[in-house]
Amino acid sequence: MSEIFESGYIRGIKVKNRLVLPPMVTFSFSENDGFVTDKKIFHYKTIAENGIGIVIVEATCVNKDGKLSEDQLGIWDDKYIEGLSKLSQEIHKEGSLAIIQIHHAGLRKRGEIIQIPVTSSDYDDGKTKGRGMTLEEIEMVKDDFIQGAVRAQKAGFDGVELHGAHGYLLTQFFSEKINKRTDSYGGSFENRNRLALEILRGIREKTSDDFIVGIRMGSNENSLEESIERAKVFEKEGFDFLHVSTGFDGTPLDVELPEDFPCNWIVYGATRIKENVSIPVMGVNMIKEKQQIDYLLNNNLLDFVAIGRAQLADYDFTRHLKEGEDILTCLECKPCKWFSNGENCPRQIQLGRYK
Ligand SMILES: Cc1cc2nc3c(=O)[nH]c(=O)nc-3n(C[C@H](O)[C@H](O)[C@H](O)COP(=O)(O)O)c2cc1C
Ligand code: SF4
Repeated sequence: MSEIFESGYIRGIKVKNRLVLPPMVTFSFSENDGFVTDKKIFHYKTIAENGIGIVIVEATCVNKDGKLSEDQLGIWDDKYIEGLSKLSQEIHKEGSLAIIQIHHAGLRKRGEIIQIPVTSSDYDDGKTKGRGMTLEEIEMVKDDFIQGAVRAQKAGFDGVELHGAHGYLLTQFFSEKINKRTDSYGGSFENRNRLALEILRGIREKTSDDFIVGIRMGSNENSLEESIERAKVFEKEGFDFLHVSTGFDGTPLDVELPEDFPCNWIVYGATRIKENVSIPVMGVNMIKEKQQIDYLLNNNLLDFVAIGRAQLADYDFTRHLKEGEDILTCLECKPCKWFSNGENCPRQIQLGRYK
């Protein structure tokens, strides 16, 4: 029997099924001021209406200088709480858990947001330059994340996901390639994890006991072995879930996948982390068929399965899955047109949704 529509739990809070909308920026649906727009609300509401268990709202920046792009959602000021509240309400109306990803791009900013971005230590690869943060700046960024989480709770979200994956600021601390600091935030494994853990502790102090705090992390952050150790530390220190993707970069794991494994190495990395922790683990990346989801859940390889582009292509993915109807498959365009404008996704054009 399929476990997809069985309940799951995070921090003791019931989730109606095991499907997750992973965070995905919808840049063209926002303005340069970082406020929630009607288009964003429509986007999340429509996906939630189809019965998804958890919606993780896209990377939302905790500091305006840490933006990835001009038109990224913001959570660095109380003025954003009202719009974000509308978003969480729409997601809750449909009975989905509402989590928001909080983010700082560090080195990975696009456009003219800041001339020389901050990162763990001075960086220059010929294309990108970054400046190592002072201890005072680390304190400030820590506080930005904590205040971001406090605002998320005020806006009605059930929890936050720290963006500790895909090359952004927290990975720039985890990564040995980038983090060359010689103080208590660099060098040893313990030191490179310190910033994320201090943010977690700060959020716990300032939010209520039922507030969920998870983290997105790579299974390839320096190595699979190191990532498993990091996951164990994250569990011990009190994160409520781990959402496993890639770390500072996309270097594949040096592993051979089991013969019958129906997904890629990124999902496999998540299953290896799940073997080593007891908190819920979410896996993601190119999972788009029921058979894959069933394999991962029925064999207890993952607790939750995140479906990204397949839900951008077919907003009704969850309902179609539940009712045994055909799914409008993602065409795997390179790059995904949602990065520029969701309205250009060939599947959205086919549906005439955004005319
Ligand atoms: C348009 C787009 C925007 C994305 N934005 C984010 C984001 O805000 N935060 C994040 O952690 N990952 C982001 N991702 C990565 C996805 O969450 C997911 O990990 C990735 O798409 C792989 O899953 P999939 O194959 O199911 O799409 C984005 C991906 C896409 C296609
Ligand atoms: S733009 Fe292409 S890759 Fe992106 S969701 Fe749509 S069909 Fe998939």
